Amino acid sequence: MKIVVLGADGYLGWPLSLRLLRRGHRVVGVDNLATRRAVEEVGSDSALPISSPQERERAAKELGDFKFVFGDVTDYQFVKELISSEKPDAVVHFAEQRSAPYSMKDVEHAVYTMHNNLEGTLNLIYAVKEAKPDVHVVKMGTMGEYGTPNFDIPESAFVEVEIKGRRDRIPTPKFAGSWYHWTKVYDTYNMLFANKIWGLTFTDIMQGPVYGTRTEEIVSERFFTRFDFDEVWGTVVNRYCVEAVLGLPLTPYGKGGQTRGFLSLEDSVEALRILIENPPEMGSYRHVNQFVELRSVREIASFVQDAGKELGLDVKVQHVPNPRVEAEEHYYNPELKVLPNLGFRPRKSMREEVKVMLKDLLPFKERISRFSSVIMPRTRWK
Ligand SMILES: NC(=O)c1ccc[n+]([C@@H]2O[C@H](COP(=O)([O-])OP(=O)(O)OC[C@H]3O[C@@H](n4cnc5c(N)ncnc54)[C@H](O)[C@@H]3O)[C@@H](O)[C@H]2O)c1
Repeated sequence: MKIVVLGADGYLGWPLSLRLLRRGHRVVGVDNLATRRAVEEVGSDSALPISSPQERERAAKELGDFKFVFGDVTDYQFVKELISSEKPDAVVHFAEQRSAPYSMKDVEHAVYTMHNNLEGTLNLIYAVKEAKPDVHVVKMGTMGEYGTPNFDIPESAFVEVEIKGRRDRIPTPKFAGSWYHWTKVYDTYNMLFANKIWGLTFTDIMQGPVYGTRTEEIVSERFFTRFDFDEVWGTVVNRYCVEAVLGLPLTPYGKGGQTRGFLSLEDSVEALRILIENPPEMGSYRHVNQFVELRSVREIASFVQDAGKELGLDVKVQHVPNPRVEAEEHYYNPELKVLPNLGFRPRKSMREEVKVMLKDLLPFKERISRFSSVIMPRTRWK
């Protein structure tokens, strides 16, 4: 297949591009390097050193047919020209502002996030409709779209409801927890609408937080993917691992009962590979929940503590006041059937993988310690 990966310079986009190349697909990677700039803006950097896009292009070409295109998905002419000229079979859309705290900083960051994410997705929808309506759009959303409802989360875009005695199908209720997460909800509604009126083909993925330093293709420093750990860009497991390496206490927010569906980088890339190679029926919208293990942030801290102990690190846990507005103890039971039905079998467990992560990060302790002042939470929801 020929696959366009929007956001190919990112944490997921780079390793997915490598996986697709190794499977024999042709890949066009697109990025405007927004994440590199925005991480710099908050005074941080990737814990693992990453190559320039030019060096990445050279490295990826060793695996297969790859090219890197610099471009911004909020520029409609650029996106339309890209789809018209490349004529891909599938487009994977990762190219969004993906930090909840970044979106909550102030009005400028909230508006930037809305503009970047909603406009990019809408441009892609129109470009596909105008230039090649049979493209399979694989769009990365988040499990955070659902929030933490007190009912079982269905793996479907619609649910049956009865209101005052009358029944109908309505979009699955969602209640996101940051401006960033709301952009993913709005993207979902826009794709559902585009599917309804124009019959475009979508896979909309509700993915949980991803952790890890490795995939099968990350075999040397040239292939490293970015690894963020600061309070704005780091996700919880990755942050804890860096805290452990630096000898800082692990910092669950509040009571630490916040439970999410996590998965390793290797499992994320493999799940995506399966979804791309097994598209839904042409003209349909497929809704996928993508996670492997349901864990609370308190439990994850104990995994990292145990892994640290095995490596001779003295790791402490210190609960800190929660900078977010969120439930700290709650019911959480999302459905998971699409990926297992397509043959997806997780390869990594969090308990095992955090050990690998600590080993991968330890050689970069000095590099990371330069940024230790941006680890503690400062961005507050209110
Ligand atoms: N990492 C996770 O744990 C996780 C979990 C669930 C969902 N997601 C979603 O998966 C996607 C990829 O996440 P990631 O962790 O790789 O993030 P990332 O920030 O590392 O990658 C996103 C890439 O998109 C690029 N980009 C952003 N706006 C762009 C624009 N307007 N034009 C062109 N390129 C643009 C960025 O420069 C970056 O390289 C995101 O949409 C994110 O919301 C990530």
